[in-house]
Amino acid sequence: MSGPNTDYDPVEVDALKPEEVDAARDAALAAIAAAPDLDALKQVRIDHTGDRSALALANREIGALPPQARKEAGQRVGQARGAVSKALAQRQTVLEAEHEERMLVEETVDVTLPTDRVPAGARHPLTTGSELIADIFVAMGWEVAEGPVIEAEWLNFDALNLGPDHPARTMQDTFWTDPADNAMVLRTHTSPVQARTMLTRTPPIYVVCPGRVFRTDEYDATHSPVFHQVEGLAIDEGISMAHLKGTLDHFAAAMFGEGITTRFRPSFFPFTEPSAEVDLVCFVCRGARQVDGVECRTCRGEGWIEWGGCGVVNPRVLRACGVDSDRYSGFAFGMGIDRTLMFRHAIADLRDLFEGDVRFTTAFGSEL
Ligand code: DAH
Repeated sequence: MSGPNTDYDPVEVDALKPEEVDAARDAALAAIAAAPDLDALKQVRIDHTGDRSALALANREIGALPPQARKEAGQRVGQARGAVSKALAQRQTVLEAEHEERMLVEETVDVTLPTDRVPAGARHPLTTGSELIADIFVAMGWEVAEGPVIEAEWLNFDALNLGPDHPARTMQDTFWTDPADNAMVLRTHTSPVQARTMLTRTPPIYVVCPGRVFRTDEYDATHSPVFHQVEGLAIDEGISMAHLKGTLDHFAAAMFGEGITTRFRPSFFPFTEPSAEVDLVCFVCRGARQVDGVECRTCRGEGWIEWGGCGVVNPRVLRACGVDSDRYSGFAFGMGIDRTLMFRHAIADLRDLFEGDVRFTTAFGSEL
């Protein structure tokens, strides 16, 4: 059995010679101090403290020493390694701080620089306006219904009690499609969506139908061959004119502000009986007819603004659309959306709504 090798001279082990250990430590410290950035420091760490570094090699040699030599060599190597890892940690902190500083400077965005970005445009007021109207009714539990713009003559007219001799059926108002015997028109109002809804759903029915409509009108500041309407239809047991009035008063207040109510004037529509024209309290003079002693320009001193048509659904229409007119009754109304938006936003010329000028649209851009 062999005893410890007491003759073993640690100085003879190259890696453990004090000058070798000091040189390895000094080389490491110099490399650490010289590392310009974090990547370089990472490499220095591998080179000078990794498994194959001089100090790691020296550390491994210690185990082979005789006990009395082991302590001295252990201390020497331990101190060298300690000094290196301390220097590494300090340099790491310094380089990280520098890195952060540099990032803050390099990644600064100059928000004042000019940009060539194309303006995003904005949603059209007719879109946001139609959605606002739909939302007012959806909040009351109504549904939104839609129909086609190329409509069957029967649904646009006959189903709504607009007999063949009704003036609205003349060529003057209606765009007919070719060939004429197809009996298809560009819908002249949103009322055919009423008929479609009654034909496809069973009461109770509560729907609003916003949409595009067409008439052979001149294009000027108050007319357009294409415009927009919103139709409302409620069919249930016991529905009366009072429900209609309450609903329209709520609609008016939601659109134009608290206190803006409606009034009915007797009128005639083939699809409602009785029928009424509905007016709004002028939301500018609030019915006072004057603003600062001058005649109100919005209502032209009337105190009221014409808003649309409405009435109790004619039982003939209910029956034509398959609804039991003994059990159910209903109310309906129809307004021009364009006109409503013109009041609401003081738009003087209807054509602004149709000409697609992005400057006009962006003025409404922030409205959701
Ligand atoms: N459809 C009518 C028009 O275009 C408007 C209208 C009036 C709709 C009375 C209705 C109503 O639902 O009850 O002029």
